[in-house]
Amino acid sequence: MSTILVATEKPFAKQAVDGIKDIVEKSGNTFKLLENYTDKQQLLDAVADADAIIIRSDKVTDEVMAAGKNLKIVVRAGAGYDNVDLEAATKRGIVVMNTPGQNSNAVAELVFGMLVFAVRNFYNGKSGTELKGKKLGILAFGQVGRNVARIAKGFGMDIYAYDAFCPANVIEEAGVHAVANQSELFKNCDIVSLHIPATAETKQSINYAMCSQMKKGAILVNTARKEVINEAELIKLMEERTDLKYVTDIAPDANEEFKSKFEGRYFATPKKMGAQTAEANINAGLAAANQIVDFFKTGNKKFQVNK
Ligand code: 3PG
Repeated sequence: MSTILVATEKPFAKQAVDGIKDIVEKSGNTFKLLENYTDKQQLLDAVADADAIIIRSDKVTDEVMAAGKNLKIVVRAGAGYDNVDLEAATKRGIVVMNTPGQNSNAVAELVFGMLVFAVRNFYNGKSGTELKGKKLGILAFGQVGRNVARIAKGFGMDIYAYDAFCPANVIEEAGVHAVANQSELFKNCDIVSLHIPATAETKQSINYAMCSQMKKGAILVNTARKEVINEAELIKLMEERTDLKYVTDIAPDANEEFKSKFEGRYFATPKKMGAQTAEANINAGLAAANQIVDFFKTGNKKFQVNK
């Protein structure tokens, strides 16, 4: 019998927690819950007797893994796993998995929630614009990017994408124009939506040089990671280019500076909300629980990311 801990600083919807508990207990394992924690020590204490842990954007560092003496598997209920120290996990023989695709529709829907808000001037009463007919650039054509493209068709947008790892024909087959490089998206689109993970290559890559190519009145929307933005350079550019707007689901470190300098051109959600729907929580949470149960039962490592 294994102890499976759900440790979520930002809690799942109740239905998701109930569903995870059900899967864990029906498989003969012990369910443990730590939600809304405010201090790292609470996580260190909770993980002490856990064999498995389900997390979201919670940071699983070497210290956390050291505190989890019995820990065998960490499952990130979601897509991005930049919050887990993969190297430390591998050294400790801990398997790390994600649950790809399970929350991508939720994130994609939020892109449009933020875009309508932005093109209607943050609902200030003044005449805005429509999304129909506008050029949308999707940076990275993974699960979220593909859902963004699907929804954008309903809005009647002209859709472009670039993905360093996805062949152009796959993008074209989805009814989206594939462009040759990232700069082409920034140069040609009215809106650029970021869907890149935070990696050594992408961190700080959305910088002055890249964004200064954007069209007059363009909007940058970020539902990916704050680390991909070079904040100081975006501030400098937005000071020079008073036509640009930035809307983000991940508040930058310089949130207060962005807010005070770019009123009417900037918006950040108070808490990352992209995957925060009951459906996404249920999809990702239950997938995580099933992956752990299966791992203990059969050794299945299908979604392992620290190979
Ligand atoms: C993800 O990588 O799955 C998304 O960024 C969602 O993150 P969250 O579970 O912390 O909301």
